[in-house]
Amino acid sequence: MPFSHTPPKPWQSGYTKSNPSSPSATPIPINPMPTTDRYAVFGHPIGHSQSPRIHRLFAEQTGQSLSYTAEDVTPDIFEPSAKAFFQTGGRGLNCTVPLKEWAFRLADTLSGRAQRSKAVNTLALRDNGMIFGENTDGVGLVRDLTNNLGLDLTGQRILILGAGGATRGILEPLLQLQPAQLTIANRTAEKAAQLAAEFSDLGSIIGGGFASLSGDRYNLILNATSASLSGELPDLPPAILAKDGVCYDLAYGKQPTAFVRWGLEQGSRLSVDGMGMLVEQAAEAFYLWRGIRPDTAPIIAELKIGHN
Ligand code: ATR
Repeated sequence: MPFSHTPPKPWQSGYTKSNPSSPSATPIPINPMPTTDRYAVFGHPIGHSQSPRIHRLFAEQTGQSLSYTAEDVTPDIFEPSAKAFFQTGGRGLNCTVPLKEWAFRLADTLSGRAQRSKAVNTLALRDNGMIFGENTDGVGLVRDLTNNLGLDLTGQRILILGAGGATRGILEPLLQLQPAQLTIANRTAEKAAQLAAEFSDLGSIIGGGFASLSGDRYNLILNATSASLSGELPDLPPAILAKDGVCYDLAYGKQPTAFVRWGLEQGSRLSVDGMGMLVEQAAEAFYLWRGIRPDTAPIIAELKIGHN
């Protein structure tokens, strides 16, 4: 008998593609007698993760019965750990640093967005036993910027610092907002130029080094480098933030990050960390798994209170 819980499935909208990078497309036998649906986040390190708390709050708010745990998983054990999780009744996984590219390779099918970003943060076990991969980071960021912070980015100049996996995951949804220009700046300039070339069919996008930013001003500056995690700042030229500009750090912390503090020093209208994005990307994953979209505003408010 197929799995009895059948919420609406976003992947049935016909946008999935098979994944040529996947090692095998052997269906996972579905556990026919699930009790509480199991979900988890895999990553390394994972001790600081807020995801179990966020998904518990979503489940309470929407009246869903599920469990969600955080597991410390390194890349060398990712594939067997993920398969064992799904084979023993797991329904969905979030994958965070440093596993997003590994999750991309594991998925049997991918959304168009995940395929382009080559990074997956959400895996879902489908009723046919195949593992579907999605990237909800970019949508989460855009929801936070537009719905929660009220920014209208159409026709604006956006700068992204960093050209790693985090940047890859947000480019498509940002370009869909049709900014006047999206610039990627990176310590290793060639990586930024290469990434810009890869997404150039989606809009006006250029890439280069930090020094090449000199003389330009941006309405929104996003920090997608991992520098914040160690309290460092990218080496930026002065006066690159436009009047009334906004700074946004994809990272978040108990204290304002180095980049959030830099944004405040530059006279930004708003300089915030990525807590809102974290909740929004989780809400998108929850919707993918459960077919119900939680109301994120009270959850973001609760987490922000818990942070201060
Ligand atoms: P993630 O998946 O978090 O994006 P990543 O793919 O390892 O992680 O990329 C990290 C990004 O942060 C890169 O753009 C890196 O710059 P390089 O490509 O030059 O390595 C950037 N980064 C890390 N530490 C940095 C620092 N101290 N200053 C500036 N950029 C930094």
